[in-house]
Amino acid sequence: MNYKKSIVITGGAGFIGNHVVRLFVNKYPEYKIICLDKLTYAGNLENLKDLEDKPNYKFVRMDICDFEGFLKLMQDEQVDGIIHLAAESHVDRSIKDPFTFARTNVMGTLSLLQAAKTYWESLPEKFEGKRFYHISTDEVYGALKMDTPEGRKDEISAHEVYGSAFFTEDTKYQPHSPYSASKASSDHFVRAFHDTYGMPTIVTNCSNNYGPYQFPEKLIPLFINNIRHRKPLPVYGKGKNVRDWLYVEDHARAIDTIFHRGKIAETYNIGGFNEWKNIDIIKVVIKTVDRLLGRPEGTDLDLITYVTDRLGHDARYAIDSRKLKNELGWEPSLQFEEGIEKTVRWYLDHQEWMDRITSGEYEKYYEEMYKGR
Ligand code: NAD
Ligand code: DAU
Repeated sequence: MNYKKSIVITGGAGFIGNHVVRLFVNKYPEYKIICLDKLTYAGNLENLKDLEDKPNYKFVRMDICDFEGFLKLMQDEQVDGIIHLAAESHVDRSIKDPFTFARTNVMGTLSLLQAAKTYWESLPEKFEGKRFYHISTDEVYGALKMDTPEGRKDEISAHEVYGSAFFTEDTKYQPHSPYSASKASSDHFVRAFHDTYGMPTIVTNCSNNYGPYQFPEKLIPLFINNIRHRKPLPVYGKGKNVRDWLYVEDHARAIDTIFHRGKIAETYNIGGFNEWKNIDIIKVVIKTVDRLLGRPEGTDLDLITYVTDRLGHDARYAIDSRKLKNELGWEPSLQFEEGIEKTVRWYLDHQEWMDRITSGEYEKYYEEMYKGR
């Protein structure tokens, strides 16, 4: 079949990536979707099981640092779009092992950029109709202060507002963790490839995602699993840090909108105006798990265990996503109450998925499925 577009989605076996791959494969049968992933500890092909027989879906196991391999893939598949999510993504791991973050997030992104440039420049039409879309994080902007909100809550109809400042697309980069420093560096490389060579790039910076298929090292899936098993819930510091939560499928919809209608060389912030103090969201998660498991609501509040704070723990993230709303019409579709209920229910209904991760079984899936292919 002659496909209208050939798109590589990197990091497609990870948390956000699998939702983006699923949305594109199902919504655009006229596109060939190539999911490229190294399958690190965070990549899980079981997340994409339902797509394995789709004719417009292909999985390629590759490291984004493999310049030659990626250049060949671009040529063989005549790739015209790249949606780049592959990254080391966990702040705590970056504090222990910053080198891996620099390698994948910085050198890996640079390698993709250089390979895409090499291939596209070899074509008669060059960059025409091409797109390199880089998925980044709000953490590159650093941390916001918690102060008195002055009327901002009504203006943006948020759940809660813990300060007067928000991250906008013009906020100065001020990353604090090795993770956010590596993402900031990759963002700069992407923009430099536009400014220097005219590459058709776009960057988006999104707030904390939650939803199905998140690796259980991150707050929400880790805590849901611990509550289920009545294990302690390690709350860093005093639990006062603020994060701005967005349902993962809303992020995937934003990526679809921006990939198709976003302006080249632009940056868009993506967020749900949904700030929560960690301790408050943790209490919501505990009560939801309790209710869905038929335990009296609040039974598991006693699992909360305050532990030593994360080094350099950013106080508050809050995204102003009005540019995306005003220019491209995107808004979150789910209210938080609905999103968190769906999320908790999903993890409780997919205990086997969780158990295969915690036991390490999931890492054998690739060998079983792709043996001999
Ligand atoms: P994740 O850790 O769940 O998944 C990352 C994926 O990338 C995994 O499948 C992994 O195998 C793959 N990968 C890692 N190193 C690779 C390499 N060298 N080559 C090829 N593949 C590799 O991450 P996520 O939470 O889905 O985040 C995806 C992207 O979105 C990241 O770029 C992250 O910075 C960004 N982001 C995440 C959030 C969030 O809340 N999770 C918010 C904003 C932005
Ligand atoms: O803001 C976007 C970022 O959100 C993404 O770029 C990152 O890839 C993603 O991991 C996420 O980063 P956080 O550090 O905010 O997410 P995490 O789930 O690790 O932690 C959320 C908050 O909860 C944070 O303030 C630290 C705290 N926390 C986390 C864990 C894992 C705890 O208190 N205890 C825990 O055990």
